[in-house]
Amino acid sequence: THQWRGIIEEYRDRLPVEAGAEVVTLREGGTPLVPAQVVSKLTGCEVHLKVEGANPTGSFKDRGMTMAITRAKGEGAQAVICASTGNTSASAAAYAVRAGMVCAVLVPQGKIALGKMGQALVHGARILQVDGNFDDCLTLARSLADNYPVSLVNSVNPARIEGQKTAAFEIVDALGDAPDLHVLPVGNAGNITAYWKGYKEYAAEGPATRTPRMWGFQASGSAPIVRGEVVKEPHTVATAIRIGNPASWQFALDARDESGGDIDEVTDRQILRAYRLLAAQEGVFVEPASAASVAGLLKAAEEGRVDRGQRIVCTVTGNGLKDPDWAVQGAPQPVTVPVDAAAAAHQLGLA
Ligand code: F0G
Repeated sequence: THQWRGIIEEYRDRLPVEAGAEVVTLREGGTPLVPAQVVSKLTGCEVHLKVEGANPTGSFKDRGMTMAITRAKGEGAQAVICASTGNTSASAAAYAVRAGMVCAVLVPQGKIALGKMGQALVHGARILQVDGNFDDCLTLARSLADNYPVSLVNSVNPARIEGQKTAAFEIVDALGDAPDLHVLPVGNAGNITAYWKGYKEYAAEGPATRTPRMWGFQASGSAPIVRGEVVKEPHTVATAIRIGNPASWQFALDARDESGGDIDEVTDRQILRAYRLLAAQEGVFVEPASAASVAGLLKAAEEGRVDRGQRIVCTVTGNGLKDPDWAVQGAPQPVTVPVDAAAAAHQLGLA
């Protein structure tokens, strides 16, 4: 029997991992590439969803974290630290447990989804809520890593980008070549950097004959790259991408320009509409930030900016269970019935 071994073992020849390294893994990666039937119909294209919420801690961060924690372990680190809007902290906390390390996380107070906080807590991370936003948390984390014996595992750590590039490998391996267009949400801009690196490497080294155009979408209230300036007080319902000064800003511009792509914005309303469409019509439950990719594609299609017949991959970055408030809010309350088939049938409209 064969089980997926995790991204380091599956792509070892393409990753900077030392021969004898003790690999810290939860067998991340190998996530589903799901045909999106309704989004395909709406756009006139062949659209696939790369469902990263299927990773062990429920987001794409696990791909980078297996690399970052394996590297930190190899260097003898005993503690790791990250700033996070929630998913990085959940992932770092889990992989630190596997490695027998202490994990410290800095999160913006009151601005991370409950599920993510629960993950960091249950994995035993030391959590500090910072009276500031994500960008403040990252500044603080960098300063602590510079001055104290603790290793930084945010995506400014190059090992993270190396791990996350494997999602592009998996897509090419599944489709037989790169898609025409790749769409994803942009927050700190590490992931768009990673995908672009992965696609370029696969095109240069054989498995792919070409690279896709890269389209990134920020939330309108947190769109520094679109505006061309830092957003001091970013806001959006998509708390995962509530970031005003992305660390990988220049790399995101490079990915856009080298690929002939675009970085654009979507409103919270467009994000939530795509969030509901994915759940109600594709059967894929993602967190709001993840829906920014599909929201952006649908917006561009409505504006006539998507040529028909293209092969498109949208990354949906995190699991809907992380932030279920949005699923419950505004939905009709379930009806209570007695243990009675006739009453239940009546309520269900069966009789
Ligand atoms: N989608 C989700 C669900 C995320 O958690 C993030 C980033 C992004 C998209 C954006 O990716 O930062 O590489 O451009 N979350 C980080 C965190 C910031 O702390 O969990 P990016």
